[in-house]
Amino acid sequence: MTIAPSLDVDSLQAVSTHRDLDRAARRVLVTNWRTRATVPAAKLYPHQWSWDSAFIAIGLRHLSPTRAQQELESLFGAQWRDGRVPHIVFDPGVAMDAYFPGPGFWRSGSSNAAAVPTSGIVQPPAHALAAWAAYRADPAVARIRGFLPRMYPKLARWHHYLLTQRDLGGAGLASIVHPWESGMDNSPAWDAPLSRIEPMPLGSFTRRDLAHAPAAERPTDLDYGRYIRLASDYRDAGYTDSPSVHAFAIEDPMYNALLIAGEHVLADIAAAIGRDPAPHRATAARLTSNLMNRLYDPAAGMFFPRDVQTGEVVRSWSVTGLMPLIVPGLPVARDLVTTALNNRFRLREACPLPSYDLTAPDYDPSHYWRGPGWVNTSWLFWHGLRLHGETTLADDLRARLLQRVHETGFREYVDPLTGAGHGSDGFSWTAALTLDLIRAA
Ligand code: SER
Repeated sequence: MTIAPSLDVDSLQAVSTHRDLDRAARRVLVTNWRTRATVPAAKLYPHQWSWDSAFIAIGLRHLSPTRAQQELESLFGAQWRDGRVPHIVFDPGVAMDAYFPGPGFWRSGSSNAAAVPTSGIVQPPAHALAAWAAYRADPAVARIRGFLPRMYPKLARWHHYLLTQRDLGGAGLASIVHPWESGMDNSPAWDAPLSRIEPMPLGSFTRRDLAHAPAAERPTDLDYGRYIRLASDYRDAGYTDSPSVHAFAIEDPMYNALLIAGEHVLADIAAAIGRDPAPHRATAARLTSNLMNRLYDPAAGMFFPRDVQTGEVVRSWSVTGLMPLIVPGLPVARDLVTTALNNRFRLREACPLPSYDLTAPDYDPSHYWRGPGWVNTSWLFWHGLRLHGETTLADDLRARLLQRVHETGFREYVDPLTGAGHGSDGFSWTAALTLDLIRAA
């Protein structure tokens, strides 16, 4: 009797691992689904978050393409009149004080047509990628629902806001105006620009996050004092964007890379609905050249954020600097992969991809964005590897990510060397992107 060579113990093991993971990931997404959208984590983040929803939709499409579309429709239902997509859409059914800063802090009023309470800052623009993925999961259903024709103008207005109001450096890149906008809240990359901000006095606000996660794994009180100062100043200026309002303004590599990748996708969406894709392709090309000129350091083989207030590059080796790999046609893709393979990020062993330089003296594997790996940035890097034909590395990263999640569970962030889980459990984008990775074989 001969046994088919493909049915070795390892692949049988992988099939059963994937089956278990698939079931468990679906359970997380079903549990975290609310009336119109998915919460990132039931306790720590009890509302809808912007870039979380983009990653959630990418996974949710495998469970229900309609829900994936609704996830994005709910978020864009709260889009502001000026085009911005708020980083939090509050659920009026959740206690006002369940999350800080809540609706009473942001006072978004009638900034959006539906007067849905929201925050006033934004998050990385991963939404066009998510909308295209949701559409492609079931084009027939999407067509019946008119999904793309409804989403296209909203996505275009969102990008337009970033390309115009947020071009604070005047160099054709979008700036973030709060560390929370980067999605990588207390990355060491923000330490220097943030140190110039006068913190709000400690007694003037009450944090809620520490009730749901250990203090050692979250930003410090001093960080929070500065976050709240920046947010209140922006609110008190009526959320207007100008270099004089924003004491913190940074051109961030990942933020702009997502915007560029999003413009490429908007071109595809435009073509699919009979609109002209050319302006989006032209914007993508222009932004790619600005990204290369402003944020790429050829000697380092790395992108670095630029502080718009000082004009200086922030030479911090944070994972944001690897994320431009998601840009189609990036001229330095191979160099960036080489950087990811070196001892700062150890792409072949560390998993998920560390959020910060493994060799830095202040690397901390359990502290929010100061070292631990997150599944979303690893997923983006995996996507970038595939885009640039690095199939072997992509397949290897995918296999190790799935194995890591199988061992650790759907944690918010993970020690990339030991696999110890941190932050919240039952984290939606970890589950959603796991589902997507399983289906990507
Ligand atoms: N991620 C930030 C938080 O801790 C801001 O959205 O809530």
